[in-house]
Amino acid sequence: MLSCRHIIDIEDLTADDIMSVLDAAESFKEVNERRIKKLPTLRGRTVINLFLEPSTRTRTSFEIAAKRLSADAINFSASTSATVKGESLADTAETLSAMACDLVVVRHKYAGAPRILAEHMDAHVINGGDGMHQHPTQALLDLFTMRERAGRLEGLTVAIVGDIVHSRVAGSLVPALRAVGATPIVVGPPTLMPARPEALGAEVAFSLDEVIGEIDVAYMLRVQMERAEGMPFPSIREYSRLFGMNEVRLARMPAGAFVMHPGPMNRGVEITAGVADSDRSVVLDQVNSGVAVRMAAMYLLLGGEPGGGAA
Ligand code: NCD
Repeated sequence: MLSCRHIIDIEDLTADDIMSVLDAAESFKEVNERRIKKLPTLRGRTVINLFLEPSTRTRTSFEIAAKRLSADAINFSASTSATVKGESLADTAETLSAMACDLVVVRHKYAGAPRILAEHMDAHVINGGDGMHQHPTQALLDLFTMRERAGRLEGLTVAIVGDIVHSRVAGSLVPALRAVGATPIVVGPPTLMPARPEALGAEVAFSLDEVIGEIDVAYMLRVQMERAEGMPFPSIREYSRLFGMNEVRLARMPAGAFVMHPGPMNRGVEITAGVADSDRSVVLDQVNSGVAVRMAAMYLLLGGEPGGGAA
């Protein structure tokens, strides 16, 4: 069981909750390696994926997770939802509630939308990404992947590099790292940093080369052109030269240090193809673990005991 009813902000979870999710995910990961990847755990429960912003990997990951736990999973996307007909979020929430669904996963372009839904329904809510605010299950799967690769979380130094100001991934990952005793450093040009970056609770650096030799993980972010007003730097070439992960920087990272990215990657911008495909990149491990972590989150929210259920 978790101490919270919803996973909307990563701060809804205590450090113990985070560890319960990661530990349960270990068992589910093992299930995902079997030929028959299905458990009866959530049979008869209904999960609705309400994705009102473009998404493939996150929606698919939640859908697979729900199905592997035998829940009935129903997808609503922006084009098929009555929200395009002007329905309010509160009305959508009350409608879904009246259908007696148990869990709603919501992605929305406005920060705070998952909280409004949660206030208007009995179901549990998982935030699948809201505007520039939070993306808590991404942070959980990132922690899982770091723990798997590094063998620990406590004491790790993680540089989160690039578009900090528009990034809901950074918004959840910084507090998640702090909760487990790791040290986040946000790195990027001033135009992609919030006005008071120190308020994030991370160390702040404006040069990747300054920190590259001392980090355990380089976590590269996509530049969110769709959220930026105008071009946030003089040219893509210059951005790549100063803040991109390439073979030269990879060679300067400590032995054992590795590279992460939440996807979708812009190869040649924040990461070179050579680094993305190298054995120092754990990008596909993140995607793989994402399913197990989301199974764990759903299972624990809907009343499971940590570590159980996968037997
Ligand atoms: C991220 C998102 O949507 O916030 N992607 C994801 O969920 N894997 C990051 C991004 O879009 O750059």
